[in-house]
Amino acid sequence: MELHPTSVLLILSCFMVASYAHNVHLSTLNQSLIVSDSATPGQVLKAGVDTLTITWAYNTNLTVSDANYTTIEAKLCYAPLSQTGRDDRKTDDNLDFDKTCPFDITNGTYKRANNTFIWTIPKDTPSATYFVRVFVINAKNHEIAYGQTTNDQKTTNLFQVDGVVSEQKGSGAWSVIGNSFGYRYAWLLMLVIIL
Ligand SMILES: *[C@@H]1O[C@H](CO)[C@@H](O)[C@H](O)[C@H]1NC(C)=O
Ligand SMILES: *[C@@H]1O[C@H](CO)[C@@H](O)[C@H](O)[C@H]1NC(C)=O
Ligand SMILES: *[C@@H]1O[C@H](CO)[C@@H](O)[C@H](O)[C@H]1NC(C)=O
Ligand SMILES: *[C@@H]1O[C@H](CO)[C@@H](O)[C@H](O)[C@H]1NC(C)=O
Ligand SMILES: *[C@@H]1O[C@H](CO)[C@@H](O)[C@H](O)[C@H]1NC(C)=O
Repeated sequence: MELHPTSVLLILSCFMVASYAHNVHLSTLNQSLIVSDSATPGQVLKAGVDTLTITWAYNTNLTVSDANYTTIEAKLCYAPLSQTGRDDRKTDDNLDFDKTCPFDITNGTYKRANNTFIWTIPKDTPSATYFVRVFVINAKNHEIAYGQTTNDQKTTNLFQVDGVVSEQKGSGAWSVIGNSFGYRYAWLLMLVIIL
């Protein structure tokens, strides 16, 4: 059987997609960061105008080791209130499929304490209710711990963004498609048809 260049390309893209699948579940991570933000509960922040100050630190009361903590990624996350009826914002314990936190706030080297970031809410942020979550990443680029500004039920310390758009656009939408189950199987199906 001859291997068509298109098939090679498809096989390659299959591996590229697969490399993002790392099967980490949020419920298995230690909540070892204390994260807070400057918003008062229920505050409405204007997209493109207002800033949010985010601070985070290792919870020194825990016995969890931070030896393998390499980098952090702070993300803006939808509160349950803004997820109802929206499959494109759905929470999944498997982080490969989770769509709770589609917006990057900042990333950088892990530091135990004294972390502050002042973030101007981007203009294109959808109007919704949010919280902030900070993930800790290890050297293998896997999430190994986190902290968030809200409680486990995601009901406290929420804030609102008053944005111009109500729909997710651009790169945000692409990452949702890229991470979806259906996308991977579509590639597989195309391979089966071609080979
Ligand atoms: C850590 O423990 C001390 C002493 O029990 C307590 O005052 C403090 O609030 C705790 N901090 C956190 C973040 O739980
Ligand atoms: C969470 O902390 C415990 C206790 O230190 C440790 O045994 C476990 O490996 C940690 N989990 C992760 C995902 O790092
Ligand atoms: C750090 O990672 C190494 C290699 O994966 C592992 O053997 C070790 O147990 C980890 N240490 C902690 C404290 O999690
Ligand atoms: C980390 O932040 C930089 C600068 O804001 C950005 O260019 C990059 O895409 C971010 N990386 C990730 C993995 O979010
Ligand atoms: C945080 O800042 C305080 C006061 O400046 C300093 O004493 C402490 O060593 C810093 N901690 C870290 C982990 O940078």
